[in-house]
Amino acid sequence: MKQKKIYVCTECDQQSPKWLGKCPSCGSWNTFVEETFEEVSPSAKKENTHRSMLVRNDEDSAPQKLSWDELPEYIRSNTGISEFDRVLGGGLVEGSAVLLSGEPGIGKSTLLLQICAALSKTKTVLYVTGEESAAQLSMRAKRLGVQGERIYVLTETNAQKVISKAEKLMPDIIIVDSIQTMYHVESASIPGSVTQIRECASIFINKAKTDGTSVILVGHVNKEGTIAGPKILEHMVDTVLYFEGERRQNFRIIRAMKNRFGSTNEIGVFEMTDMGLSEVRNPSEMLLADRPQKTSGNCAVCVIEGTRPIIAEIQALCTPTVYPAPRRMSTGIDFNRLALILAVLEKRLGLRYSSNDVYLNVIGGIRIDETASDIGVAMALISSMRDIAISDDLLCFGELGLSGECRAVMRAEDRIKESARLGFRKIVVPYRALTQSTKIPDGVEIITAKSIFDILPLLRKKETKDD
Ligand code: TYD
Ligand code: MG
Repeated sequence: MKQKKIYVCTECDQQSPKWLGKCPSCGSWNTFVEETFEEVSPSAKKENTHRSMLVRNDEDSAPQKLSWDELPEYIRSNTGISEFDRVLGGGLVEGSAVLLSGEPGIGKSTLLLQICAALSKTKTVLYVTGEESAAQLSMRAKRLGVQGERIYVLTETNAQKVISKAEKLMPDIIIVDSIQTMYHVESASIPGSVTQIRECASIFINKAKTDGTSVILVGHVNKEGTIAGPKILEHMVDTVLYFEGERRQNFRIIRAMKNRFGSTNEIGVFEMTDMGLSEVRNPSEMLLADRPQKTSGNCAVCVIEGTRPIIAEIQALCTPTVYPAPRRMSTGIDFNRLALILAVLEKRLGLRYSSNDVYLNVIGGIRIDETASDIGVAMALISSMRDIAISDDLLCFGELGLSGECRAVMRAEDRIKESARLGFRKIVVPYRALTQSTKIPDGVEIITAKSIFDILPLLRKKETKDD
């Protein structure tokens, strides 16, 4: 076979015969790497199953009528960690390929070792590691209290050898930690390169699709936050999970970015402890634990993450700037969203944010993408600017429009219920969010807001300085 050199973009898999500084397909810079591969003859190309691997190839598949009968029943196994089962859509599906990715040190190996314990009660699990020695893994397992007759460890980086060993052991689940350490001897590229990752992943996914083994691949994330390696990896697997969180804080969140067997809205929340990852069934309580009291710039909000309402605390700090251009910093909330809210407040309320540095933070290191936090962010910003504390039992939710109007968000009743459960007694909601049938818990005062002007009275000195 003839060897050929090409250049491949590590972000989007775009190929080019020569090196390019900027990828014409995805626009990223300096992402092209050299790859050597063997030119495949046209007849062999036909058998190349990379792209057809997503669906099992039956010999004589014919077009069928779309039918609701004979719906497939996914066989799922419980991993013993319900927060993880939740993001998977109700457990690990037999014959599925899952990609678990995250930054180094976030806790991927810890989580996978922990799920081995519960899975091994009914299944045989093979943990393939290319990163740690078997002794290191055993030490960690001991620390985490993970043991089981049916957990096997294999330190191997040759993907084909892994498969041939798995063929003898016949495990129900194979965990590959990590896909970047695996290599394929027939591929001429170096381990960790785009071609190698793709080749190795396809071997494991093929295994899942042919004999129903569930495969969990660990993927590293590069500094831009995307999975290091080809984007095609995300297309090849059934489920892509992202493990995120601030490494210095204990809070960890798993999000499904793609799931062929369930919703992608769910999140799983964990806390990293001395005994590994522990589930957080009630994230709001944890997020509100160290809440500052009676200080300006803080406002509680209620956002829906997956199916659950979660209460978070927004903190804003505005200080007169000493720089020619004021500083803006946002952690946990989209930077552009902050810019938009600041622009609305400056224009509609005449507050001079343009001569102030603004720092915004969501306590606990979580990230909020829902626009329902807008009004809370606006309240925190006004509160800090005027140095007036918001009452501690007040919470807001709702979207802010460019004219300063408060827009309705879905599931108002659930949000109110959760807020009341956690002790909030005054809840600011958009005017149109409530219907006549919306149930309001006893002792809760609902303040409806049509626009940003309606929330200003809540930020007057005489009302908040009641102590
Ligand atoms: P690890 O699972 O090795 O991360 P990854 O596989 O994603 O690279 O977890 C690494 C961090 O977790 C490590 O810095 C130590 C910490 N940790 C704990 O705090 N408690 C524990 O019980 C364990 C096992 C790890
Ligand atoms: Mg690891």
